[in-house]
Formats: sequence, structure tokens, C-alpha cells
Amino acid sequence: MAVATVKYLQTPTSPAWIEQAIANLDTILLDHSHCERKAAGVALNLMCRYPSNTQLVYQLTAIAREELEHFQQVNNILERRNIPLAPLPAPPYAAGLKAQVRRNEPGRLLDSLLISGLIEARSHERLGLLGENVRDRELAAFYRSLMASEARHYGTYWVLATTYFPREEVTERLEELATVESELLATLHPQPRIHA
Ligand SMILES: [Fe+2]
Ligand SMILES: [Fe+2]
Repeated sequence: MAVATVKYLQTPTSPAWIEQAIANLDTILLDHSHCERKAAGVALNLMCRYPSNTQLVYQLTAIAREELEHFQQVNNILERRNIPLAPLPAPPYAAGLKAQVRRNEPGRLLDSLLISGLIEARSHERLGLLGENVRDRELAAFYRSLMASEARHYGTYWVLATTYFPREEVTERLEELATVESELLATLHPQPRIHA
């Protein structure tokens, strides 16, 4: 088994994904716009669900703002390329991860934080791959610029998890969820997506 280069991820993205992405950049850009909007929504939802968890609210306010900024940046690129904000059926990834969230607290909070962290970690890895492999220089630079924030975001979700839960419990649960995350990406989705 190849070793993932991004902390928390159990397996690295396959070369087949990057080939598929490069061959379908317009769809990847549109999907990316949906991802940024959803990432902002997830942060806002968590703030609404746990309004008295001070650290969580402070940290997620910053993430929600950044994700909205990314959303706007991707949308500017879509506009320049005349790609309308059309709907795209989501790949099974996010729903598959969400199904792992325990219904009852405090497990629900821990799982929500760790899953958001894993999604951020995967985004960080894949935007990095796009930054390395996309020929269009401007676009490649854009992907590389986003990579750093997504890395910060997964760090924040990890820190929040360890703020509210014992480290041992966090590490153990992260390992279980990271296994599911890698399994969900084990077969390449036929449609090009950021998390496919
Ligand atoms: Fe983002
Ligand atoms: Fe992010």
C-alpha cells in the first residue's frame, strides 16, 4: 500500500484521478465551486448546532469566511470561462462519510469535526495535485494558493477535536474514519469530481 503524503489520510490519490481531472477541468472547476460553498455551509451549521462552544464558534467563523472567499474566487474563474453555476450530482463521498456520524452526543460532535477535517485534508491533497499538474499557469497558481488554507483548515478541525475530546479517543476515531474515507475513494467515480 502506498503511503499518503498528507497527514490523516490513509491512502494517496491515484494517478487515474488526476488524469480524469485534467481531462475535465471545466467540470472540476464547477464541482470545486460547489465544494467551497458546502464547506462554508458545514462550518456555519456546526456553529449553529454548538453556539456555546466558544473555541469552535471562533475558529469556524474564520473558516466559513475563508471558504466563502474561495467560493467567490472559483466563481470568478467560472465566469471568465463562461461556465454557468449549474447543478452537479454529488459523488457518494460526502454522504458515505456523513453516514458514519453517530446520532448521539458527544459522539456526533467528534465525528462531525473529524469528518470535516478529513474532507479538508483530501481537498488539500487534491488541490495540490491540480496545482502541480494543470498546464494553465494562472489556474495552477490558484490551486496552489488554496492548498495552504485547506491545510490550515484540517489542522483547525483536528485542534477543535482535541479541545473537546481526549487525544486518545480522537486518534482512535480518526483512524476508523480515515479508513472509511480511503475506501470511499478506492474506486474512481465515473464522473470527474474533486472528491471522487
Ligand atoms: Fe476552501
Ligand atoms: Fe477548507
